[in-house]
Amino acid sequence: MLVTAVSRACTFVLVLHHELVRAQYTVAKDYHGQGFFTGWNFYGSWDNLTQGDVNYLTQSQAAAQRLTYVNDAGNAVIRVDNFTNVSSNEKRNSIRIESKDTYSVGSLWIIDAVHLPFGCSVWPAFWSKGDDWPNGGEIDIIEGINLLGRNQVALHTTPGCFKHDVAGTQSGQTIGSNCSVDAGCVVGETRPNSYGSGFAQAGGGVFATQLDVSGIYVWFWTRAAIPQSIRSSSNTSNLNISDWGMPSAAYPSTSCNITQLFSVQRLVLDITLCGVWAGVPGIYNSTCANTGATGLCYNDNVIGPGSPKYDNAYFEIPFIRAYTVAASPPAASAAPKLPSINPLSTSTGTESSGHVTVIITPPTARPINSASTDTLARFRAMWLQHGSLTMVISVLGSAPFFL
Ligand SMILES: *[C@@H]1O[C@H](CO)[C@@H](O)[C@H](O)[C@H]1NC(C)=O
Ligand SMILES: *[C@@H]1O[C@H](CO)[C@@H](O)[C@H](O)[C@H]1NC(C)=O
Ligand SMILES: *[C@@H]1O[C@H](CO)[C@@H](O)[C@H](O)[C@H]1NC(C)=O
Ligand SMILES: *[C@@H]1O[C@H](CO)[C@@H](O)[C@H](O)[C@H]1NC(C)=O
Ligand SMILES: *[C@@H]1O[C@H](CO)[C@@H](O)[C@H](O)[C@H]1NC(C)=O
Ligand SMILES: *[C@@H]1O[C@H](CO)[C@@H](O)[C@H](O)[C@H]1NC(C)=O
Ligand SMILES: *[C@@H]1O[C@H](CO)[C@@H](O)[C@H](O)[C@H]1NC(C)=O
Ligand SMILES: *[C@@H]1O[C@H](CO)[C@@H](O)[C@H](O)[C@H]1NC(C)=O
Repeated sequence: MLVTAVSRACTFVLVLHHELVRAQYTVAKDYHGQGFFTGWNFYGSWDNLTQGDVNYLTQSQAAAQRLTYVNDAGNAVIRVDNFTNVSSNEKRNSIRIESKDTYSVGSLWIIDAVHLPFGCSVWPAFWSKGDDWPNGGEIDIIEGINLLGRNQVALHTTPGCFKHDVAGTQSGQTIGSNCSVDAGCVVGETRPNSYGSGFAQAGGGVFATQLDVSGIYVWFWTRAAIPQSIRSSSNTSNLNISDWGMPSAAYPSTSCNITQLFSVQRLVLDITLCGVWAGVPGIYNSTCANTGATGLCYNDNVIGPGSPKYDNAYFEIPFIRAYTVAASPPAASAAPKLPSINPLSTSTGTESSGHVTVIITPPTARPINSASTDTLARFRAMWLQHGSLTMVISVLGSAPFFL
């Protein structure tokens, strides 16, 4: 644990670290190479979820048509049919697969991708869901449509879950807060090259999802920014996530009871076409630069020859890895004690029994412990999430507050 206190005029900056929710993760399942597709069930039916213009193939159909295969680089490829001239009123073949294994709260997933599907009408997703969908929660980790250049993260739950923004805990931009509305509670990625042609040109990247009692957190790193812990990881090594930095999206459990609303999850990869997001006329036009001849997603894209329209409609995935928290069961890893802050004497830091006591001395400050419940909740959420906390206390008159 590390405690530092920096004093500048009447502003105090405290940086606190703890390791309790930064426990090591161990590999639960590794999907990669020739064995990749043995870990998944193929949907084998039409898209009755998002009403896209696709037929999802069975495993044997997918292999025979080479919509799923492992390429020479050893990466799993999952793609839309780009070789069929589809007649009017017919759908195009594509893939939706769901992991055979389920993952409970306390899990962490990493996906390394060198290419994500994109192009007009294309709507891919890497997501997780409970078996009793829409009950049991849904986490949309990678999702984009048409020619958008940014990934969008979202949770979907039954009523009672909200995305609460805590300053300085995510790099993304919150677009919706109520997780039980149709769109879910959406966070837009702000880091560059998270989707589309930019993602591919940058060599792809890695997305990570932590499903924890303290909250749900999603990270994205473009290829050049992947942390050392992941670059040096293997399909058997433990993972220490202390070098991950700030996530793109943070959904702290203070406003969403994760253990109550998220049952065990299965991972899903799919690529649909048009449907209730990519194909909505106004959305389709604006996210395809009004390039279509008819302004209708299906007519402009799905029917007719598949190439070059769907040449970029594929995932290329070196690996997906699922981890579980190594040490104690998730419930026990959840709640490190709040540091107790007593701003009544000089700036020092002490440690005792797993928590940090920080003592600072703004001359006229009142104790932080008397701050509002909301402030303490924000403080706790940051502490839980980051395993470290930067707290800035400005002393104006006699009232300390958080920035
Ligand atoms: C994780 O890495 C950090 C930074 O190197 C280190 O301080 C910490 O002890 C490690 N945690 C575990 C559980 O090994
Ligand atoms: C790790 O990868 C190697 C090489 O492909 C494979 O033989 C082994 O079974 C994998 N281990 C796990 C835990 O998936
Ligand atoms: C879609 O079809 C599958 C298989 O018939 C069925 O189990 C599932 O409930 C359907 N989903 C929706 C949203 O209608
Ligand atoms: C695709 O099929 C339609 C009729 O179904 C035909 O008119 C058209 O010429 C075909 N296009 C190509 C490139 O074969
Ligand atoms: C959140 O969305 C649900 C479902 O649409 C709705 O019933 C509820 O009133 C919303 N809550 C708030 C605070 O807007
Ligand atoms: C969250 O839900 C679980 C299971 O329903 C319950 O045991 C727990 O007390 C809830 N936590 C909070 C903070 O409400
Ligand atoms: C979309 O664009 C087409 C022309 O490409 C136009 O005819 C149509 O009205 C537009 N639709 C919407 C909803 O803006
Ligand atoms: C489909 O797209 C791939 C690139 O992703 C390309 O290599 C291939 O030639 C295309 N297939 C056809 C039939 O054009």
